[in-house]
Amino acid sequence: MTPARPSWADPRRRGWPAELAALAQQVVPAPMWAYLEAGAREGVTRDEAVDAWRAVRLWPRVLHGTGEPDTRGEVLGAPVRTPVGVAPTSMQRVVHPDGELAMAAGAAAAGALHVVSSNAGHRFSDIGEAARAVDPDAVWWLQAYLPPDREAATPVLRAAAAAGARAVALTVDTPFPGTKYEPAEEDWQGHDLSWHRANFADARAARHHRGLRPEDLAWITETCGLPTVVKGVVRADDARRCVEAGAAGVWVSNHGGRQLDRTISTATALPAVVAAVGHEAEVYVDGGVRSGLDALAALGLGARAVLVGRPPVHALAVAGARGVQALLETLTEELSEALELAGCSRLEQAQGLGAPPDL
Ligand code: FNR
Repeated sequence: MTPARPSWADPRRRGWPAELAALAQQVVPAPMWAYLEAGAREGVTRDEAVDAWRAVRLWPRVLHGTGEPDTRGEVLGAPVRTPVGVAPTSMQRVVHPDGELAMAAGAAAAGALHVVSSNAGHRFSDIGEAARAVDPDAVWWLQAYLPPDREAATPVLRAAAAAGARAVALTVDTPFPGTKYEPAEEDWQGHDLSWHRANFADARAARHHRGLRPEDLAWITETCGLPTVVKGVVRADDARRCVEAGAAGVWVSNHGGRQLDRTISTATALPAVVAAVGHEAEVYVDGGVRSGLDALAALGLGARAVLVGRPPVHALAVAGARGVQALLETLTEELSEALELAGCSRLEQAQGLGAPPDL
C-alpha cells in the first residue's frame, strides 16, 4: 500500500515548499539549519535564484493534439520517470539518521536521478544497495571533487563505480569552500562522520580542489570507467571547453549561491550554454528550482534535467525517504500539469517554450 502523502506535499496548494522548509527548520538543529540555508557572503546569488525562474515567460503551444503528458525521459541513456532530480548535498545524516540511504530510497521510489555527494555519510555500496532495493534500475551518479593529489580521489571514484553509479559529476566551482556560515566544531558532535572522514584521510587537502583542467575529465573516465558531467558551469565558452574535453553533460549551477556571490543566476545563464553545446551534450541545471513551473521553464530553455538541492534535504529531515519521494512526486505532478497547459505531451516538446518561435 502506498503511504499517504504528507499534508505539505499537495501540488494544488501554492507555497507548500515554504511550508516544508518551515517544518524542516523545526527539526534541524539551528547551526545546521543556518549552514543548509546559507549563501556565500551577502547571499545575493542565493536570493536571486528563485526570482530568476519566476521571471522566465513561457510561450505555450496550441492545436498540437496534445494527450496525457508523459514526464518520462532519459539522462545519459538511462531511463527516469521524471526530469526532476536530487542535487548533491553533503552530510545528510546531520538532518536524518538514515541520511543518503533514505535520500536514495526516496529518489528511487519517485523514479528520479539521485546525485550523491562525495561528502556522503554512508558507504557508496550501501547507498547503491538502498536505491536498488526500491528499484533495480534506479539511476544515481557520484558527485566528485578532485584534490590536488588526483590519486587521493581514486578510491572514491572506484568505490562509486563498483556500487553502481552511472556517471561522475565533477564539481568545478569550488577551488575551496566560499565564505558562508559554518557550524562550530562542537555543533558537528553527535553526528557520525566516521565514514566521511575515512574517505578523506587528509581533510585539509580535501577542502581544496585547485588547478582543475579539462584533462581531468579524461582522467576520471580512465580511472573509473564512467562518463563525466561538469557541474558548476555558467559560461558558454567554458561549456564548449568541457565538451571538447569529452564531457557527456554540462550542469549549469552556481552551487546554490554558496561559492562566488554575485554569480549570474542559472536561469539567466542557461540559454547561452544550451546554444553552445546542447546539440552535442546534455545540459542540466539547478539553483532555486522550487516548483513544476520552474522545472518547465528550465526545460523550455533547453535543459534535459532539473535538479533540486535544499528542498530534498528539507523533505528528508521532515519525513525521511517518504518525504523525499513525496517532494519529487509533487514537483513532477506540477510539471505534468504545466506541460499539458503548455500544449506538450512529451518532455522534448517543452524545448523552445522559453523563447518566441523562429519562423
Ligand atoms: C550543496 N551543494 C553541493 N554541491 C556539490 O557539488 N557537492 C556538495 O557536496 C554540495 N553540498 C551542498 C550542501 C548543501 C547544504 C547545499 C545547500 C548545497 C550544491 C548543490 O548541489 C546544488 O548546486 C544547489 O544546492 C542547488 O540550489 P538549490 O536547489 O539548493 O537552490
